[in-house]
Amino acid sequence: MNTKLSVINTHKSKDNLIILADKTDLNWSNAYLSNTEQTFLKNAIKKGVSHVFFPQAERAIIVQFLKLNGDESINKEEARMLGNDILTIIEHYKLDTVTLVNHRPNNHVLEYLEGMLLGNYQFLKYFTKKKDKANSLQTIKVTKDFAPKKSIDELKAITTATCIARDLVNEPQSYLSAAQMSKDIQKIGKECGFDVEVFDEKKIKRLKMGGIIAVNMGSFTPPRFNILEWKPTKAKNKKPIVLVGKGIVYDTGGLSLKPTPNSMDKMKCDMGGAATVVGLLAAISKAKLPLHVVGLIPSTDNRPGNNAYAPGDVITMYDGTTVEVLNTDAEGRLVLADALHYAKKYKPELVMDFATLTGSAARAVGAEGTCYMGTAEKEVKDKVVQSGYNVYERLVEFPLWREYGDQMKSHIADLKNLGGPAAGMVTAAKFLQHFTDYPWLHFDLAGAAYLSKSNSYRTKEGTGVGVRMIFNFLKNY
Ligand code: BES
Ligand code: ZN
Ligand code: ZN
Repeated sequence: MNTKLSVINTHKSKDNLIILADKTDLNWSNAYLSNTEQTFLKNAIKKGVSHVFFPQAERAIIVQFLKLNGDESINKEEARMLGNDILTIIEHYKLDTVTLVNHRPNNHVLEYLEGMLLGNYQFLKYFTKKKDKANSLQTIKVTKDFAPKKSIDELKAITTATCIARDLVNEPQSYLSAAQMSKDIQKIGKECGFDVEVFDEKKIKRLKMGGIIAVNMGSFTPPRFNILEWKPTKAKNKKPIVLVGKGIVYDTGGLSLKPTPNSMDKMKCDMGGAATVVGLLAAISKAKLPLHVVGLIPSTDNRPGNNAYAPGDVITMYDGTTVEVLNTDAEGRLVLADALHYAKKYKPELVMDFATLTGSAARAVGAEGTCYMGTAEKEVKDKVVQSGYNVYERLVEFPLWREYGDQMKSHIADLKNLGGPAAGMVTAAKFLQHFTDYPWLHFDLAGAAYLSKSNSYRTKEGTGVGVRMIFNFLKNY
């Protein structure tokens, strides 16, 4: 569910207001608050409170101060978290509409609004009594002078797209088969303005996408290969930027079955990378970024059914590489490898892939960040890391040392899909690297894509991680 965001000329006397203000400047206050309220506010400031709630006859006024003590990245994050915190007060008083008024000459108001919009997200589809479960807040209004129109439009695009990604992750596989995900992507493409082409099982087999076919063998539903494209007429880049997303709609581990609980039970999140790519195409097309961007999503579930691929099997990948499968739970790299090979046909400027790929990445950084590595130039890496800090989706680089690649050599085939016991996120990436011949970045989202309980504006379950970060990177590209 999306919170409505609208821009109005001026607010009216009955509108609930959140006034974003600076503690050292209360010149605005006699226009909104009585003398006693102003005195109360001054005393509250002395005590160091961050907001004050004033019930008035026909509306409420919340005065919100933004703490700004840390560095820029932390300041912005504090503002997002305060935006999320105020939702508790709004819910407590059952307000359905609030108008934000800016009496503070800095730009953290946008992050505050971002925190409100993302924190108010709910996934209510499967409740029979949705109205009872819904948050009271339905609409946020901002006045024209709140922030430049372009920034508001962009924020709307990013937050909507993040919620699209969250929705996709939150959908259980009982609904979201690979085929259904393609239908959803087509619908999202129509709404946002990007093109979608879908390869069905026949086409995937004709192309001999051996990684996708192998993973799908134990499944009862067919695989898909999705191609998403945003190609504006005045694109700044001649060669496209390609985004690849792991689209395993459910990962049981296959015959190398995962244990449950605490492992298989959250594996509807295994298309988190695909959700990031869909969210990105949605954000980019909604914001009409002048960049040619292609999204590739190989998709299937991973199951131990009838004809499932088995440990010891040797398969032939789309690019002709042979792979000894030693663990059917290391399926993500197999479907991604086919997509990374497909990406070569675009002669891309840069390829970025997103995947809930390894438990090892999740263990290394938890939900606090994303492991990344790749062959792109240092300048590109520095920029993407900075974007991570800008939106507080932080990145940690791991080294693609040759020795890790040696672990992926097989005695019976060109590669095997399983490395040693250490640095699993790197050995997986070394496997993927084999299928690339262009500047490439790989993001292992296993820790950050899915939360068992909410963390401020990162609501529980799907987080939509990567959408805000890579949008920030592309917008400055
Ligand atoms: N989908 C999992 C990785 C994962 C783990 C995602 C935790 C989200 C949270 C992936 O397909 C997997 O099972 N990886 C194995 C690979 C191993 C068998 C080489 C892993 O990391 O344990
Ligand atoms: Zn797996
Ligand atoms: Zn997986």
